[in-house]
Amino acid sequence: MAAPWKGLILAGGTGSRLYPLTHAVNKHLLPVYDKPMIYYPLSTLMLAGLRDFVIVSNPESLPQLQKVLGDGSQWGLTFAYASQSRPGGIAEGFRVAAHELEGHRVALILGDNIFYGDGLSKRLQEAVTLEKGATIFGYEVADPSSFGVVEVDDKGRAVSLEEKPKKPKSNQAVPGLYFYDEDVLSLAWDLKPSTRGELEITDINRAYLKRGDLNVMHIGRGVAWLDGGTHADLFEASQFIKVVEERTGLKVACPEEIAYRMKFIDRKQLSELVDESPKTEYQHYLKRLLKGL
Ligand code: DAU
Repeated sequence: MAAPWKGLILAGGTGSRLYPLTHAVNKHLLPVYDKPMIYYPLSTLMLAGLRDFVIVSNPESLPQLQKVLGDGSQWGLTFAYASQSRPGGIAEGFRVAAHELEGHRVALILGDNIFYGDGLSKRLQEAVTLEKGATIFGYEVADPSSFGVVEVDDKGRAVSLEEKPKKPKSNQAVPGLYFYDEDVLSLAWDLKPSTRGELEITDINRAYLKRGDLNVMHIGRGVAWLDGGTHADLFEASQFIKVVEERTGLKVACPEEIAYRMKFIDRKQLSELVDESPKTEYQHYLKRLLKGL
């Protein structure tokens, strides 16, 4: 039987590009319209069906994140926290959370990546059927030079992977969402820092490519992929969520709703969450959810 899944959410780094917003507040707690940024990646992995998570962040930010997210039980989840003393790269996340990840397949999501769109849940649920190897995604962007970039052949198989190439070999950026079998931990321990001194996620993906074990799933234009890396990104992501929510009357990335729809919590638990919430528009939404929206 395949190993159980664990979700790894990276919420560390310095957030320096968002200074002074991030002077006292962790980037992943900044608002994306009506919710903290971290609700969005968490929701993505919940939609994949995951319930056990490790959240990695720097030691100063962990108490803030714990205050917002708790132990996860309110949403039928479990959260463990792991401390990354300095931002040594995305792949270092596996090392600092190793004790929690041992014996698990790992779904890694970067805490500033936001996904929204039709058919997304289905793709995610397909991704967690992975038993061996790794699955990454390819997403067409106008300028891929600030991302991981995957080049694929005419059958959609990966040919090369590069991190922030000056001359990208394709327009397929690799979003910050990755599914790995349980070998990922030993691959992470074998990594050497790149020239910029970080343990690169692209090097983990290259190791799977070398083994002939890397799947690339294409995410089409029906799905929006955004990140909150810069002030403009953050502002645009907020605007995007506002437009979608106002138009549909439905919330994007509401963990209570996803937990309820995925049957991680039952009606009684949702009703308790409503009672505990302050009387806000958010509570009103949860009340509507109880009545069947
Ligand atoms: O957004 C997708 C891109 O994310 C990928 O296409 C790239 O291959 C990948 O390297 C990454 O690039 P970024 O330049 O966006 O990575 P950044 O350093 O901004 O970190 C992304 C997230 O991971 C951010 O939310 C902070 C967190 N992080 C980052 C580092 C380096 C950590 O928690 N710890 C770290 O050590």
